[in-house]
Amino acid sequence: TIVSGKEIIQQARTEQYAVGAFNTNNLEWTKAILHMAATQKAPTFVAASMGAIKYMGGYKTVAHLIQDLDDALDVSVPIAIHLDHGDYDASLAAIDAGFTSIMFDGSHLPLNENLARTREIVQIAHEKGISVEAEVGSIGGEEDGIIGNGEIAPIADAVAMVNTQIDFLAAGIGNIHGAYPDNWHGLNLDHLQKLTTAVNDAAGYNVPIVLHGGSGVPDDQILKAIALGVAKVNVNTEAQLAFHQAVRDFVLSGQDLQGKNYDPRKFLAPGVVAIEKSLTERMSIFGSIGKA
Ligand code: G3H
Ligand code: ZN
Repeated sequence: TIVSGKEIIQQARTEQYAVGAFNTNNLEWTKAILHMAATQKAPTFVAASMGAIKYMGGYKTVAHLIQDLDDALDVSVPIAIHLDHGDYDASLAAIDAGFTSIMFDGSHLPLNENLARTREIVQIAHEKGISVEAEVGSIGGEEDGIIGNGEIAPIADAVAMVNTQIDFLAAGIGNIHGAYPDNWHGLNLDHLQKLTTAVNDAAGYNVPIVLHGGSGVPDDQILKAIALGVAKVNVNTEAQLAFHQAVRDFVLSGQDLQGKNYDPRKFLAPGVVAIEKSLTERMSIFGSIGKA
């Protein structure tokens, strides 16, 4: 069932677990995410980046794909159709197309501009019951052309952003998109604690925090981050690596040459199984299984 992002994330924040926001790339990915959400009874965000949306044929195509598959697969658990790292125009297009959750990422803009643009998106989105995520500081690394310098989010910026009436906040706390380098220092959990305390005080309720760059973050750090206010963890690279490895193994074993395995529905099947396994492992760590 398609719902707003807020409906999913606020419950997670209150009950101290996190939901997965899993990036989709195509039909197989979308089906795998919805199938696992339903099987594991886990409220879930299906996320699409601007790059993936372009690849998949546009905002309406993606929104309809998720909505129609949700119906067709009879998914009764709450699902949000989420724009990941959208710019201003992308946010408007996604709102128009029927997304139920928007991440406006103005983290590369000067703070005042980021705040002003976020306020505009919040107003337009909230009128339609659509939730908004915004970002302060910066996520390191690169995702789909979005490059960040990894700036730790200043507390004052986080408070100012929460005052724009956003529904959940992404903050740079040492997290990085893609694989973590060997010399990575880990999440800055002390900073996260200070940040959540400050934003909760300013907002007067427990603001859900979003952890980007979920792939490769060790389980114990995920659990600590959830205890400190993270209620949504974004995961992309891990599922891509799992898919790639499984399809590669299938080909290297020569099984792709047997029978009718050239049929893409068979050729890609081991990859889909691998995505599903990877998503389920993450849902289990996040604590979202059985919450719907
Ligand atoms: O917005 C999406 C995520 O932050 C994904 O990051 O590819 O490192 O899991 P990841
Ligand atoms: Zn991200």
